Amino acid sequence: MMSKAVRIDRHGGPEELKIVDVEVGEPGPGEIRIRHKAVGLNFIDTYQRSGLYPFQMPLQLGMEASGVVEAVGEGVVHLQPGDRAAYASQPPGAYSELRVMPAKNVCKLPDAISFETGAAMMLKGLTTQYLLKKTLPVEGLQPGDFILFHAAAGGVGLIACQWAKALGLQLIGTAGSDAKCELALEYGAAHAINYSTENFAARVKEITDGKGVKVAYDSVGKDTWEGSIDCLRPFGLLAVFGNGSGPVPPISLGTLASKGSLYVTRPTLFTHIATRESTQAMADDLFAVVQSGAVKIPIDQRYALADVQQAHRDLEARKTTGCTILTL
Ligand SMILES: NC(=O)c1ccc[n+]([C@@H]2O[C@H](COP(=O)([O-])OP(=O)(O)OC[C@H]3O[C@@H](n4cnc5c(N)ncnc54)[C@H](OP(=O)(O)O)[C@@H]3O)[C@@H](O)[C@H]2O)c1
Repeated sequence: MMSKAVRIDRHGGPEELKIVDVEVGEPGPGEIRIRHKAVGLNFIDTYQRSGLYPFQMPLQLGMEASGVVEAVGEGVVHLQPGDRAAYASQPPGAYSELRVMPAKNVCKLPDAISFETGAAMMLKGLTTQYLLKKTLPVEGLQPGDFILFHAAAGGVGLIACQWAKALGLQLIGTAGSDAKCELALEYGAAHAINYSTENFAARVKEITDGKGVKVAYDSVGKDTWEGSIDCLRPFGLLAVFGNGSGPVPPISLGTLASKGSLYVTRPTLFTHIATRESTQAMADDLFAVVQSGAVKIPIDQRYALADVQQAHRDLEARKTTGCTILTL
């Protein structure tokens, strides 16, 4: 069987993304073959393309999709041919019509959730799940607590605004324009700061009566991490989970002492979804909050697979809001 897929032969800019025809075979032990209905676009795809996260070449990109299971390999018991399914998974390869992949991270998609929503929400939604439920300060998070969340109008960001509100948390979101700040507020942020024009650390201190936040969830990295540390109250947690503006340089441990016995973590989704059991438990939590209506998955951009170069350009140029999918 043949499939269209997006491949790079070397690391570089969006122009390296090529549509190619690839042969797809039968699933081996622990694998499935899935025919995609929609594919999710994620910022991590740009790191894998550029070489910030280096890979062996050639590389098929994409970490998130939904579709219909066509065949299952030996030992796969949680999926059957014909099942609607969605996933966030390694290895990359989701930018394709059809693929063979490990079954471990692939979950049955509830009938009430569309393929497009499934493709948009798995990587970003499971990330929000582990951030808000498992990446916590030593004192935990209680309703009413303030948290800081950068890039709040982005894919992960708009899911986090809604889920934080559902948990009773006061999410202070940052975003790069006034229009994006408005969007974050519409989706449940308690406050929004335009960090292109305002000193966000000073505003966070004002909003929290000088106390600071318990956690700063920072996916912007290089441009924001120092300000994020200044937003934390004593014993607060800096959770750096992305490199939107570039990676965070090594931090002096002495800084953590002088700023108030702080904690720092650099989590990744793939540690959290290392087993089938943990993947399913997190996915069940995500499916429940989406089906309850408390979290809606905003798909603000759709591109044909053939327009993947433009999709990457727009994501990196900060032109997108919410989630983006590639249609097939
Ligand atoms: N560690 C994990 O497990 C994990 C999992 C998923 C995602 N992530 C990270 O979470 C972040 C959000 O992912 P996403 O896919 O939902 O993307 P996204 O938020 O939709 O897009 C990234 C956003 O980052 C902001 N940004 C700030 N400085 C930027 C710069 N110099 N260049 C480009 N963008 C900049 C932009 O929003 P403004 O214009 O509002 O600043 C941009 O829209 C990414 O950093 C991603 O790597 C981490």
